[in-house]
Amino acid sequence: MPMISRAPDTGVWLLTTPHTSYALRVDGTGAPCHLAWGPRLTPSEADALVTPAAKPASSFEGRPPVGEELPVDGGTRYGPPSLQVRYPDGSRAFEWQPTGHRVLEPAPGTAELVLEFRDRVHPLHVALHYTVREDTDVIERRTVLRNAGDQHLTLLRADSAAWSLPQLSGYRVSHVTGQWSAEGQVHRDPLPHGETVLTSRRGVTSHHAGPWLMLDSGEASEQHGRVWSAALAWSGSWRITVQRTPDGRAGFTGGVGHEGTWVPLAPGEEFTTPVFAGLYTDGGFGAASRAWHAYTRRHVLAHADETAPVLYNSWEATGFDVDEAGQSALAERAAALGVELYVVDDGWFGARRDDRAGLGDWTPSAERFPDGLGPLAETVHRLGMRFGLWVEPEMVNPNSDLYRARPDWVLHLPGRERGELRNQLVLNFARDDVADWAYDWLTRLVAEQGIDFLKWDMNRAFSDAGWPGRQDGNDRLWTGYVANLYRVLDRLRADHPGLRIEACGGGGGRVDLGILRRTDQAWVSDNTDAVDRLVIQHGFGQIHPARAMSAWVTDVPNQLTARTVPLRFRFHAAMSGLLGIGGDLTRWSEEELAEGAELVAEYKRVRHLVQHGALHRLSGPLGEGPTVVQYAAEDGSETLVLAWQRGPRHGVPRSPVRLRGLTPQARYRDVRTGDVHHATVLAEYGFRPDLPSGDWASSVVHLVRGGGDEG
Ligand code: GLA
Repeated sequence: MPMISRAPDTGVWLLTTPHTSYALRVDGTGAPCHLAWGPRLTPSEADALVTPAAKPASSFEGRPPVGEELPVDGGTRYGPPSLQVRYPDGSRAFEWQPTGHRVLEPAPGTAELVLEFRDRVHPLHVALHYTVREDTDVIERRTVLRNAGDQHLTLLRADSAAWSLPQLSGYRVSHVTGQWSAEGQVHRDPLPHGETVLTSRRGVTSHHAGPWLMLDSGEASEQHGRVWSAALAWSGSWRITVQRTPDGRAGFTGGVGHEGTWVPLAPGEEFTTPVFAGLYTDGGFGAASRAWHAYTRRHVLAHADETAPVLYNSWEATGFDVDEAGQSALAERAAALGVELYVVDDGWFGARRDDRAGLGDWTPSAERFPDGLGPLAETVHRLGMRFGLWVEPEMVNPNSDLYRARPDWVLHLPGRERGELRNQLVLNFARDDVADWAYDWLTRLVAEQGIDFLKWDMNRAFSDAGWPGRQDGNDRLWTGYVANLYRVLDRLRADHPGLRIEACGGGGGRVDLGILRRTDQAWVSDNTDAVDRLVIQHGFGQIHPARAMSAWVTDVPNQLTARTVPLRFRFHAAMSGLLGIGGDLTRWSEEELAEGAELVAEYKRVRHLVQHGALHRLSGPLGEGPTVVQYAAEDGSETLVLAWQRGPRHGVPRSPVRLRGLTPQARYRDVRTGDVHHATVLAEYGFRPDLPSGDWASSVVHLVRGGGDEG
């Protein structure tokens, strides 16, 4: 079946992915209307979904609030508009007038449907884009808006897409909220009647909510049931409005900006929304997560096929106290542990001795690095590691040469106080001169100092978000900032194909599919307590793959929580993502260094499974029993089971977990013990991770197929 087809009689467009269908059609009024999103349909089955438009039940109803592909502000519509425009004459309606359609093949195995429209009165053109691929059920949607007139327009709302669900017996929504050092807390609640808003008003994705959601009927579990999910590829303010309507339907619309942030559209200008990708899966929340992970590895991350190196980062060890001698000493020890990428964190530049000064002055401190960073980079390279550096290009301390020279470069409102957070202000990246300045010093720094990796940080939200001197600046900056941020990252990556980048926003303040398209991994949280981290990683993994999940082993008592857990437990928690080390290695004992080296070596033997395998959450992080996750090779050839337990409780039964992704009837050998297990027993009757007694026990079991007679 072609990936995109159109029924000649009914005009139904049918989009086909490996396991799902999506159907829509332009109705008699010219509006694009939704028909189906779910299990596979044939063209004639999709046609059968077309029913004559029901007459409104009363003069108070109008068009149903869910069921259009992009509900506009206009006509008899009363739901949250996905598109709301203000024309030069002050009027606001949009009336759909179809102008054409195109089916494109932007790449092999990829098809794109473009439906084109304009407003019946004003020269505003709107194109709805749908991209489907042969190797994923994720459907990418975006909208392109073009002002074809000669007067300015304002897009009061310009969502990427609206998604409609079939009528179900009930609805439940899953999403994350959080705060600094407590990101990704998963909630699974009945969907309230009326409207529910998930949003960030902070100018960045935020620690406080994630731009994604999952909906189900209330019956789905980790392993079973139908789930409709979506994720917005955007790193600025965003809003998703979910509706549960009086007529028993549910749907949601999402896009850039929060309420009151507008997108100006000058004559001839075009605005392309970010992608709002949607996914229907059967097989529970686990299957939904695995499908998002596979999609992200194939179509979002640029280098997901590479093996991510074991990293060392100096932040928790040294704080701002970095210099050549101290860093070289840490680098020696890191290399001996088996680290492959050494990252110098904050404090290497300008007058940066604490968080009160220096941000913005991106030259190595002459006092701490008398000969620049070159000698340290050389030491690190000589030790066989790659060299990485922390940067925070979007920020400035008022106490810096940059701010003294360019106080006009920050977001601010004339005559008002410039509110500081962490003693810093936000540079207005929407200004091309600011973005060009950042690009210039970054590309030079990377080239001149031999830098292989950047940790790109962003440590505060917007405030006083004004752009004096530019007439439409206060509106334009919300989207212009992110567009220029992406442009700088894209240019840097084009200049330096070997450069890898870690996205960081004071931990997980900027994690989304938009930033992951331009970076290689994300620093998930500043909270490195292994116990809290299991919960935070559980939230991250709902949508994002372990291939992008940076995790460090740090010292105890933990700097944030003062909790002490064994080195092994901390390693095992970090080994379920991209293993990094962040402890002060000069204070590790010989025994700790030896144990660490062994665990790093073990990670290297199994990391292909973590980084490229399929995640199965066998037992969640919040229950009484152990937390268990499994990473399975796609072909069933091997599998990794990681388990952690807070402490034994006498008399509390411990149920076995059923392993997934094994080859039926095969046998699997435990690489460490040599024990041989039957797949049928592991998958159907279960497996008990061998957790030593005592508090904070953990284990890693690597099982490889083929270990004796099959069958
Ligand atoms: C943020 C990051 C940390 C560290 C500090 C440095 O908080 O999340 O990992 O880089 O900044 O100031």
